[in-house]
Amino acid sequence: MTDGLPAAYYTSDEQYFGECTAFDGPMWVAVCMADEVASHNDFVVRDVFGRQVVIQNMNGQIKAFLNVCPHRFNRVQTDPSGNRPLVCGYHGWEFGCDGVPCRIPKRPSFDGIDPSKYAMATYEVDVCGKLVFVCRIKAVELREWLGEAWPQVEAMTSACERRIDTNTMRLACNWKIAVENTLESYHVGHIHQDTFHRLGVVGGEMDFQGPHSSWKAPLSEKAAERMLHMNAVLDGRPYKPAGYEHQLVFPSCTIASAAGMSVSVQFFVPSGVSETSFISLVYAVDAGELSEAQSQQHELFNRSVVHFNRRVFVEDAGVCESTHAGAGDAGGGMYSVLSDDEGRVAHHIRCVLGACESLHSRSS
Ligand code: FES
Ligand SMILES: [Fe+2]
Repeated sequence: MTDGLPAAYYTSDEQYFGECTAFDGPMWVAVCMADEVASHNDFVVRDVFGRQVVIQNMNGQIKAFLNVCPHRFNRVQTDPSGNRPLVCGYHGWEFGCDGVPCRIPKRPSFDGIDPSKYAMATYEVDVCGKLVFVCRIKAVELREWLGEAWPQVEAMTSACERRIDTNTMRLACNWKIAVENTLESYHVGHIHQDTFHRLGVVGGEMDFQGPHSSWKAPLSEKAAERMLHMNAVLDGRPYKPAGYEHQLVFPSCTIASAAGMSVSVQFFVPSGVSETSFISLVYAVDAGELSEAQSQQHELFNRSVVHFNRRVFVEDAGVCESTHAGAGDAGGGMYSVLSDDEGRVAHHIRCVLGACESLHSRSS
């Protein structure tokens, strides 16, 4: 049992500001999947702990920049995703893959300007499997940052063959409430009685890899029996765990799969202390050569996975928002308590507070 957490952890501006300062620096943050920026000029825009970053494919290379035009601070990309060059819509400055303006309309009127002094601020980019990470000030390589979580993240995301759903929800709650909700199965019997609970995933084992964590649990006999046929159809899939697997990529990305028959990747993107963008991507896996009948069965299965995931997330969204509302009322005198089943939640809290604390001690 762990206790002693005040509600202000989720609701105070000061705590949120501390997290933004701690995470928008030397930490690698998972921001998108490689297929979201697969072609030249594909881009996505993501908030990364207080600043907006554009992740853009430039001639086959994935680049990331602070989404701010160095001319007069306009957003360079104004849509959440799309396909267009890195051109600011205000006065038309265009940027190359190093972020330096390569075209400045009416350039002589800037009187000998050195474009390299007005480059977009760059972020480091690296990829594990198909998961794309950015980092503003690289202190360690991504492989070191992921440590023992690397093989699992690589295996799960490499199995993501074809995106079959993109589901974005705005949640009126702190990002940590939404992340913590995915880190424990204690709520499953209450919130997901007709959905996730039916997988019969109980018990299982938690594992911790630095700030990251995972949970692996067998499916119930009944659920495994229901999946027997699809299990055989998808026998050639590359990632084949026996049961349910859930991986947290600290601080705010999760990857989940039941027996590797599909994989879902979720990003919890803070947009303020009380607002979170939730992005869920669901992937079909590559099952090798399938007959026409098997392909149809696979498609039906994929559709049911999308439907299932969407139902589960609506159930979770409701409880996350009501927890945030409760935390707002709780005030200074109330403290939460966590069971051993919520060990990954306790670990996440310790690691978030640890990151804020180490920043504090670095700066004092
Ligand atoms: S603000 Fe971007 S071109 Fe002027
Ligand atoms: Fe849930």
